Amino acid sequence: MTTTAKGDTVRQEIMQSAQAATSAQDLMARIVRVLHERMLKYNWVGFYMIERKPDQAPILVLGKFEGAMTPHTRIRLNEGICGAAASSGKTVVVDDVTQDSRYLACSLETKSEIVVPVFVRGEVVGELDIDSHFAAAFKAEDRALVEFCATLVGQYLEKHPA
Ligand code: SME
Repeated sequence: MTTTAKGDTVRQEIMQSAQAATSAQDLMARIVRVLHERMLKYNWVGFYMIERKPDQAPILVLGKFEGAMTPHTRIRLNEGICGAAASSGKTVVVDDVTQDSRYLACSLETKSEIVVPVFVRGEVVGELDIDSHFAAAFKAEDRALVEFCATLVGQYLEKHPA
């Protein structure tokens, strides 16, 4: 099976699972579970959602995840690859984390990372972060799959405001 065919199958599994979601948290839990189980190079998969409080700088807070516990449970928007994706509103793919000075280490085994923002009505509300133990694990089809998942969450949040 090619990577693209695998990605298509996983996308269908996620769509099916998403239909049974009872809340945004449940939807995110379902997405991270399927991605982590089915995509063998996705060794850590998690959501960070932006917490906004009056008189405080917005901050990314760890949400549903699969993989080892990370020391980075709260990340400022000017920190890390996670902060870069949230503050720019753009997908960030890092093929070799040792070459990116923004990188905040979560596991010594991590070699590459992708972070995709989640939008609600054009505003970044969070992101889907994936780490791999393999260098350059995230190709165009991975990016498409992860962006699809982030879009599902954004659409769900638009329909079901918290
Ligand atoms: N590597 C991320 C931090 C989060 S952990 O990977 C789970 C970053 O550089 O922002």
